[in-house]
Amino acid sequence: MNIKPLQIGDLTIKIPIIQGGMGVGVSKSRLAAAVANEGGVGVISGAQIGYLEDDFETNTIEANKRALRKEIRKAKENAPGGIIGVNLMVAMQNYAEFCKVAVEEKVDMIISGAGFPLDLPEFVKGSSVKVVPIVSSLRGAKLIMKRWKKQFDKEPDAIIVEGAKAGGHLGFHKEDLDNHTNQPLKEIVIELTEHLKALSKKIPVIAAGGIYTTEDIEDVIDAGAQGVQIGTRFVVTEECDASDAYKEAYIKSTEDDIKIMMSPVGLPGRALNNPFLKRVEEEQRIKVQKCYRCVHKCDPKDTPFCITQALIDAVIGKTDEGLVFVGAGAYKTDTITTVKAVIDELKVAFAY
Ligand SMILES: Cc1cc2nc3c(=O)[nH]c(=O)nc-3n(C[C@H](O)[C@H](O)[C@H](O)COP(=O)(O)O)c2cc1C
Repeated sequence: MNIKPLQIGDLTIKIPIIQGGMGVGVSKSRLAAAVANEGGVGVISGAQIGYLEDDFETNTIEANKRALRKEIRKAKENAPGGIIGVNLMVAMQNYAEFCKVAVEEKVDMIISGAGFPLDLPEFVKGSSVKVVPIVSSLRGAKLIMKRWKKQFDKEPDAIIVEGAKAGGHLGFHKEDLDNHTNQPLKEIVIELTEHLKALSKKIPVIAAGGIYTTEDIEDVIDAGAQGVQIGTRFVVTEECDASDAYKEAYIKSTEDDIKIMMSPVGLPGRALNNPFLKRVEEEQRIKVQKCYRCVHKCDPKDTPFCITQALIDAVIGKTDEGLVFVGAGAYKTDTITTVKAVIDELKVAFAY
């Protein structure tokens, strides 16, 4: 089978599938290495990645930086020759410091969303690290491109368009998500690829959000995408770094269990409507025991809950007491599989 590779700068990605970065702790070195070994891009999420370090409570930033470094090294060691990226959210405090660690460890790419990564080129200057923003509209892509051109004379190496069916934080208005009035993924991909074509720019566009089957991939390829980013399907794999309970929560979920909520990050997010979210709704506010100073927008005095604590609780297996982010297709998962099986099933969509 001949698969058309995805070219991002000088990187040739044999299978045009990027595994979406998933925090906290859902995509670390194990999942990333497994995807990279199958020819896709394995992505480590940098969000609060130090949660298992001994000094996480007392020395959070250093613990996170150390863990990020360790996970990058482990992924590269376990996937020699594979392509490894990190996902760093712009909304994170100390974003620049995490980018510095990623550059020092020579990751292949930094992928950044949850805000506009307006200064990202500055942080990779002088390195070969590719810079890949995540956007949810043509407007977002234009804004980043204009700023990067003006300030750094730099273009994105690829652009990920994340539609409303994705998991985690979403770049749409909550009302639009609730009423399904947001712009569909395919439409955004068409607008962006046409815009790039008009400018004679050869920047690859990667589509994300709700990609589940080969048909979903063919649909976005038809629209002009050259690759896909997938999160949810990789959660229910043996190699995913989350606890078994986390994966089981996906498998047990039904479509009615999936809900749009407002995150302390200041963005809507998609998550399981579990006892934790029901408690937040009832009590309005779960008092913050300790503030980890994780994101810019959150004020511990009035946040409805601590997102760091909620995501850590979920990933370690306390899934009823924590926040379980999911993509819109999570209810379709029915068994734990392997990364190889997922990629083997989906890669045929890229065959020619
Ligand atoms: C559990 C979970 C955590 C996620 N965490 C992040 C994150 O930390 N940063 C980010 O940019 N995207 C995050 N995402 C989005 C994914 O990287 C991916 O783009 C998206 O989920 C794709 O949609 P799909 O899950 O329908 O395949 C997360 C998604 C999930 C399901």
